[in-house]
Amino acid sequence: MKIGIIGAGNIGGNLTRRLTALGHDVSVANSRGPHTLGALAEETGATPVAVEEAARGAEIVVVTVPLKRVPDLPSGVLDGAAEGVAVIDTGNYYPQQRDGRIAGIEDEGLTESRWTERHLGHPVIKAFNGTYAQDILDRPRPAGAPDRMALPVAGDDEAAKAKVRALIDELGFDTVDAGGIDDSWRQQPDTPVYGLREGVDGVVKALAEAPRERPAAFRG
Ligand SMILES: NC(=O)c1ccc[n+]([C@@H]2O[C@H](COP(=O)([O-])OP(=O)(O)OC[C@H]3O[C@@H](n4cnc5c(N)ncnc54)[C@H](OP(=O)(O)O)[C@@H]3O)[C@@H](O)[C@H]2O)c1
Repeated sequence: MKIGIIGAGNIGGNLTRRLTALGHDVSVANSRGPHTLGALAEETGATPVAVEEAARGAEIVVVTVPLKRVPDLPSGVLDGAAEGVAVIDTGNYYPQQRDGRIAGIEDEGLTESRWTERHLGHPVIKAFNGTYAQDILDRPRPAGAPDRMALPVAGDDEAAKAKVRALIDELGFDTVDAGGIDDSWRQQPDTPVYGLREGVDGVVKALAEAPRERPAAFRG
């Protein structure tokens, strides 16, 4: 499958590593340009591209940049993607440590991914946001393994969500349908499922136990 990855940091880099290892055709972009991605390209066989090129022809695009940088992405960044493209959003809002105060989230009460998809102009599937980057490399397990982790996946586009869940299964993780993007507060930072290393039952339970109110440590 042709996959575009926007952001080549902790998460983008490790998804590039695993998805190329599975045989996918991965294009990867960062903010500084493809000439700075030589080492990752050499290691993985991924194609380094400018951010404007990353989505071209892609069936899945992963947006994995710090939340405050989402508005910096060029308009039309998803233009040229394959029809029915699934756009994965891995983002989290860290107002005090990184992102500053974002009014749409704080005042309008938007979920982090709803805010992101408004900027992107395209629906997103929220996945990997509570997964330690290193776990993407270290914790894949075959289907049915007793210690296989499950990841929550939220999104409004059921076909896109199914495509993303199938890819995550291929990567070595179970998934739990965490509802639509307006439900995705259940998997935001500091919720019980955030960073959880458990299987399906544990993830279902943690999603159900999420408190609706944004924790003080994650308010700007
Ligand atoms: N780290 C984790 O374990 C983890 C786990 C789950 C979710 N997340 C979330 O996933 C997101 C990414 O986290 P991360 O830790 O992977 O970030 P990171 O290591 O800081 O990497 C961010 C990447 O985004 C690129 N970038 C920034 N602005 C860009 C722009 N305008 N256009 C293109 N690329 C741009 C950066 O490019 P340069 O390299 O050129 O600066 C860098 O490659 C965050 O929202 C984070 O909260 C992180």
